[in-house]
Amino acid sequence: MSARGTAEEVAADAAADPVPPLLELRNVDAGYGPFRAVFDVSLSVHEGRALALLGANGAGKTTLARVCSGLVRPSAGGVYLDGVDITGVAPYQVARSGVIQAPEGRSVFATLSVEENLTLAFRRDLGRSGTDEAIQKAFEVFPRLGERRRQRAGTLSGGEQRMLALARVLARPPRLLIADELSLGLAPIIVDEVYRTLETIRDAGTTLLIIEQHVHQALRTADDVGVLVKGQLSYQGRVSELGDVTEQLLPDADDDSGVPPD
Ligand SMILES: Nc1ncnc2c1ncn2[C@@H]1O[C@H](COP(=O)(O)OP(=O)(O)O)[C@@H](O)[C@H]1O
Ligand SMILES: [Mg+2]
Repeated sequence: MSARGTAEEVAADAAADPVPPLLELRNVDAGYGPFRAVFDVSLSVHEGRALALLGANGAGKTTLARVCSGLVRPSAGGVYLDGVDITGVAPYQVARSGVIQAPEGRSVFATLSVEENLTLAFRRDLGRSGTDEAIQKAFEVFPRLGERRRQRAGTLSGGEQRMLALARVLARPPRLLIADELSLGLAPIIVDEVYRTLETIRDAGTTLLIIEQHVHQALRTADDVGVLVKGQLSYQGRVSELGDVTEQLLPDADDDSGVPPD
């Protein structure tokens, strides 16, 4: 369980493991113009699992998410999908390969009904004939949305709106769903609901990269954990092996000051 690996170590791991990670970052540097937000990060997301990427505000979590989805091109290092180098591939092509960033916030059409929102999303992706079936499936996965199919999306609770936003993603279940602070600004009880939604999506076969400042909720759902401190990965391992070092390693949910790497 090393915090970081050199390119050689990562390559040796890859050689020892016949199944490459679904998504892998190798020694990634990334930033904005001359500003570097992420330093030498190597991170693996394994198929069928959920990785929680934790860190204080400004640690570089969103930047890493954007590297994964192709929105930010690393200034050094590489991004690998199924072991294939996809560094610098356009975001729409990364999305086509099944790596999707979850819609942020309440990105639903407030004046349209739940069903109309889904119809709009599905028709674009699936055409008319696939839409009815996809809507049925969404209501099976999220019965709550089925009960509210005629309700205007703007009158749903915050958690239900996020559920609806996530249900739209399921038209074509992605291989990897990147959820960047989906719980931001939600009441705790609604956060629980959003996480149950994520678990439903994972149980349907989608791998998850969950990015969070709120540590405990994410760790309840995740199998693996990475901790980012000031742009560097200070820890990577299995949640089950975190044990009582949790408190030392992880920045507090309400603390923006960050934690030193060691
Ligand atoms: N578009 C941008 N242009 C310049 N700097 C940015 C931009 N987005 C983020 N940053 C900077 O990069 C660093 C990491 O930000 P970010 O990845 O958003 O962190 P987090 O998601 O962990 O809060 C911060 O110092 C932030 O100010
Ligand atoms: Mg962020």
